[in-house]
Amino acid sequence: MKISYQMSDTRPWTEKYRPGTVKEFRGSSKTVEKVLNWVKNWDNQKTDALLLHGEPGIGKTTLVGLVAEELGLEIFETNASDVRTKKALQSSLEQAVQQRSLTGRKKLILIDEVDGMSSRDRGGKSQISKIINKTKFPIIMTANDAYANGMQSIRRKSNVVQLKKVHTNSVNSRLKEIAEKEGLEYEKSAVKSIARRAGGDMRAALNDLQSLAEKHGEVTSDLVKELGYRDTEKDVFQALKLIFKTTNISTAKNAVDGVDENYDTLFEWIRENIPKEYKKKNDLAEAMDVMSKADVFKGRMVTRQNWSLLKYVYVLMSAGVSVSKEEKYRGFTRYSYPSKIKKMGRSKASRKKRKDISLKVGKKLHTSVSTATDLIPFLSILMEKEDWKENIVEHLDLTEDEIKFIKNF
Ligand SMILES: Nc1ncnc2c1ncn2[C@@H]1O[C@H](COP(=O)(O)OP(=O)(O)OP(=O)(O)O)[C@@H](O)[C@H]1O
Ligand SMILES: [Mg+2]
Repeated sequence: MKISYQMSDTRPWTEKYRPGTVKEFRGSSKTVEKVLNWVKNWDNQKTDALLLHGEPGIGKTTLVGLVAEELGLEIFETNASDVRTKKALQSSLEQAVQQRSLTGRKKLILIDEVDGMSSRDRGGKSQISKIINKTKFPIIMTANDAYANGMQSIRRKSNVVQLKKVHTNSVNSRLKEIAEKEGLEYEKSAVKSIARRAGGDMRAALNDLQSLAEKHGEVTSDLVKELGYRDTEKDVFQALKLIFKTTNISTAKNAVDGVDENYDTLFEWIRENIPKEYKKKNDLAEAMDVMSKADVFKGRMVTRQNWSLLKYVYVLMSAGVSVSKEEKYRGFTRYSYPSKIKKMGRSKASRKKRKDISLKVGKKLHTSVSTATDLIPFLSILMEKEDWKENIVEHLDLTEDEIKFIKNF
């Protein structure tokens, strides 16, 4: 059997299809030009540093690498959120910004994720602004949140450039290109909806496409639905991303403002997803503590019919949760639909479906409807095996909808 290169290539597609040249980079060519020109003419710039900020997964880190490549510069890279202490940061960076490279090539210094530096180490950011004063080479910093706590000393010394989210059409065309290269069967509308639900986050889109490709070998609209509810619940996902990724109080607080969900639902969304994002014990404990306080206010508000308490509920579950972490978490997190709401939402339409299935099961097994209902979870497990599933479906004469219902039970 011929094993193709692609089959044996297990890299994540975000790596495999990381653009190799500036031309392949999707997004505002103006911004790309701006950054390129700033580095090119660094000797004559007003600032020695550039702060490139924008939402996660839109290519900030990638762009800096491409710019270095394009201009033939050697890149020196530190990830500020990985640097544990001021001292460690100082020693490596100070050398880097002052000493010529061994190869004699010019350097570009990348300080990635400056806004993610530990907030415990308060001096970190002012340390960086001091290092900017000493640099002999252009410094580019990246951040999700240029306005996070303590960022003003850095902002003041930098040319602040925002990278905009990748336009849905650009995400879409990139996904199609990759699908073609992978020889993947896809419905155009399905790829489009992956692009749409990514909300400008190219990395999220690539991850979604790859996960469907690997799981099912094709991309259809039905399968996209399986990914979750990000399309219809776009606002909520965006709010979650902001709350979890920022440490800035007002950013987090504003994130929940425009969300078209009631406070109870929003509460469930946040509670469900905190453990997905906050992996450190203390962060999780603190965030849950804040949520429990929000819950107390929520309860009092209802029992006392005192709706003025609502503002505390909102502030606690947005800003309160966002400042519960010591530092921001990097990378992509797939948020999920709250299981509690899923159960509630199911109730009406699905009660009927459940009853229909139970009737069918009950008839075949000669049991009462309620006993049959109790058997649905077991059916769900049995039907994970493909040949058993076929037999069961045939025996019980199940419809597509009913099969789906059992599968998701
Ligand atoms: N504008 C883009 N054009 C093409 N590919 C992109 C673009 N943005 C992101 N990608 C893809 O997504 C991956 C992740 O992008 P990158 O790490 O540069 O994002 P980022 O903005 O630095 O995110 P974070 O804020 O989380 O650090 C890249 O390796 C690339 O595959
Ligand atoms: Mg990055």
